[in-house]
Amino acid sequence: MKDPDAVGNAGSAVCGDYMHVFIKVKEEDGKEIIDEISFQTFGCAAAIASSSMLTEMARGKPLEEAEKLTKMEIVDALGGLPEPKIHCSVMAADGLKEAIRVYREKKLK
Ligand code: FES
Repeated sequence: MKDPDAVGNAGSAVCGDYMHVFIKVKEEDGKEIIDEISFQTFGCAAAIASSSMLTEMARGKPLEEAEKLTKMEIVDALGGLPEPKIHCSVMAADGLKEAIRVYREKKLK
């Protein structure tokens, strides 16, 4: 994404893979909404699928709602993942939380 408002980085301690989540935020009716979201994931197919699902689930949501997305909500939306691949979905949820944290921190400066 060109000129994101914030980038969140997250990694998996289990396998060493990592990802970046890029967000653009807009204000609508006094709420901060995720206007655009994309990702760059260096990981397995489950991590890429989780990242992609995360963007579908978070786009258009207020930050307060988006940051509450959990790994299990992502896994359920994918129709499940094999147990050894659950950790791959954690990265996506963590990446978005981090992007929102970075966005808020930038706004305070
Ligand atoms: Fe590393 Fe899936 S095995 S993210």
